Amino acid sequence: MKIAGMMTVAVAMALAGAAAIAQPADPIKARERLMEQNGRDAKAGGQMLKGEVPYDPAKAVAIFTSMNDVAKKFGNYFPKGSEGGSEASPAIWSKPAEFQAALAKFQKDTAAAAAAKPATAAEFGPLFGQVTGNCKSCHEAFRVKKG
Ligand code: HEC
Repeated sequence: MKIAGMMTVAVAMALAGAAAIAQPADPIKARERLMEQNGRDAKAGGQMLKGEVPYDPAKAVAIFTSMNDVAKKFGNYFPKGSEGGSEASPAIWSKPAEFQAALAKFQKDTAAAAAAKPATAAEFGPLFGQVTGNCKSCHEAFRVKKG
C-alpha cells in the first residue's frame, strides 16, 4: 500500500512537471523578464559605447551572449490565452512565421556579434548597432507600447 501511494505521488509530480513545461505558470511575466534582461544589456552596451564606462571586451561578449540567450528563449512564452494584458502585439499570433523570422534574425545577429569578440569600442560599435536594430524593428512589428 505504501509503495502504491508513493507511486501515485510520483505520477502526480511527473504530470505537474509536464504541465509546467507545456504551459509556464505565467508566460507574460516570463517573457517580460527576458526583455528586461535585454534592456539591462542594451543599457550596459550603450554606456560602454559612449565611454561612460571603460570598454571591456569580456563584457561585450557577455552582453551579446545574454541577448542570444533571450533570443533563444523568448519565443517559448506566447501560448494561446496569453494574448491580452501585455504589450505583445496580436501580430505575434496572426503572423507567427514573421515573428519566428524576427527571432531567428535576432539569434543570428547576437551569435555573430559574440563570436566576433570585438577588441575595441570601435569594433564593438557596428556590431552593437546591428544587434540593436533588431530591438527597434521587432518592437515596431510586434510590440504595442502602452501609455
Ligand atoms: C523578436 C522580437 C523582439 C526583439 C528582437 C526584441 N524585442 Fe523587446 N519586446 C518584444 C515584445 C513582443 C515585447 C512585449 C512583450 C509583452 O509585453 O508581452 C517586448 C518588450 C520589451 C521591453 C519591455 C519589457 C516589460 O517589462 O514589459 C523591453 C525593455 C524590451 N523589449 C527591450 C528590448 C531590447 C533592448 C531589445 C534588443 C536588444 C529587444 N527588446 C529586442 C519583442 C522583441
